[in-house]
Amino acid sequence: MAMAAETQREAAEQARTAPIGAESEAYFSCRDIHAYYGESYIVQGVSFEIREKEVLALLGRNGAGKTSTLRTIARAPSPELKKGEIWLKGKPLHKMECYKAAQAGVVLVPEDRRIIPGLTVEENLILAQIEEPRGWELGRIYEHFPRLAERRSQEGTTLSGGEQQMLAVARALARDLKLLLLDEPYEGLAPVIVREIEKIVAEIKELGITTIIVEQNAIAALQLADRAVILDMGTVAWQGPASEVLENAALRQEYLAV
Ligand SMILES: Nc1ncnc2c1ncn2[C@@H]1O[C@H](COP(=O)(O)OP(=O)(O)OP(=O)(O)O)[C@@H](O)[C@H]1O
Ligand SMILES: [Mg+2]
Repeated sequence: MAMAAETQREAAEQARTAPIGAESEAYFSCRDIHAYYGESYIVQGVSFEIREKEVLALLGRNGAGKTSTLRTIARAPSPELKKGEIWLKGKPLHKMECYKAAQAGVVLVPEDRRIIPGLTVEENLILAQIEEPRGWELGRIYEHFPRLAERRSQEGTTLSGGEQQMLAVARALARDLKLLLLDEPYEGLAPVIVREIEKIVAEIKELGITTIIVEQNAIAALQLADRAVILDMGTVAWQGPASEVLENAALRQEYLAV
């Protein structure tokens, strides 16, 4: 137990202090990012990399900084990135505003899904395609999401929670997607619906879309993910293969309480 804790501390230290070259081979990387809500220092030097087509599970307890890290990557207005670099396919996201990052292909599907009120399912999808570069055509989207095809004329906000999650993901696919950020896609959904959304996330992985998935319930995310990053109080406590977290109950106990 003490050994495990020691190893974890060493791994954490390595994760924090690992030297990062100026030019990385990684498809995506954040390098020592620090972000603040006003005076509140929340993302405290987070670094990790993702290879193309990988799914990365970003885990940690409530308040660990998962959403804040996703928002920082998507270049949301808050939290404010004050230090560090974020690279996607050789493009410096850290120098971009939110809309530029979106044009570069970063799409954040937030926990509340942000379905636009007053618009039908189809209008929500069309709106996602209003600007170049576009992703999937409507036909392809409806093929993958028959439920949305059935409800194309229904107002988006009147969909069930699971259907709204489908619409949020479909909207992301309607854009030219290079990095998908999913914040708690299973949140608030009934188990049977969770399994449906899980299938969609598995499909997204098969399509080779590079994804960061945040989940409070780590197991589901880990089963899909290639790699895992565990956050604790705004820093990287551990990172490595997703399978290692699945096998390491002590690690889960310490940082995830599952
Ligand atoms: N808008 C904000 N202003 C100030 N502090 C904030 C803001 N949003 C989040 N925080 C704080 O930042 C810390 C990290 O929050 P964050 O939402 O990133 O955590 P999380 O890991 O996503 O948690 P959860 O699992 O509950 O979603 C928390 O202490 C939270 O109170
Ligand atoms: Mg969160």
